[in-house]
Amino acid sequence: MNILVLNGPNLNLLGTREPEIYGNITLEDINNNLINNYPKINITFKQSNSESELITWVGNAPKNFSGILINPAALTHTSLGLYDAIKAISNKIPVVEIHLSNTYSREEIRHKSLTAGACVGQIMGFKENSYDLGMSAILKILDTNNG
Ligand code: DQA
Repeated sequence: MNILVLNGPNLNLLGTREPEIYGNITLEDINNNLINNYPKINITFKQSNSESELITWVGNAPKNFSGILINPAALTHTSLGLYDAIKAISNKIPVVEIHLSNTYSREEIRHKSLTAGACVGQIMGFKENSYDLGMSAILKILDTNNG
């Protein structure tokens, strides 16, 4: 089973970026945790600071993937284009939104997610474990625990 894990703007800076909010773990550590925890799943990891690149990856995903785990980062709160891209494929493959931080406990501008409404569901606030929980959710939706 092929699953696509997408990360949005500035998540390449994890490890040094606001560690009091996001922790000290790097994106590479998070990716390696998923590889170790889900050895039978073929996971593709992509990160971009570009909205357009993320939109293109989402739109093409049904050709190669059974599901998407996405942390849209700041685009969560701003991108109607990313919402539309997820909406466009949501009848084909499940998309689960995740966040490291609990955005509801932060600035008001982060309280609204544009993208979550196009996703099956959202998991947030568990730091790096949000990725693990999100992957588990996708596999449950796809009715498999091991690929
Ligand atoms: C984030 C939360 C967003 O509000 C923020 O812009 C990020 C990271 C998270 O994982 O907690 O870049 O998506």
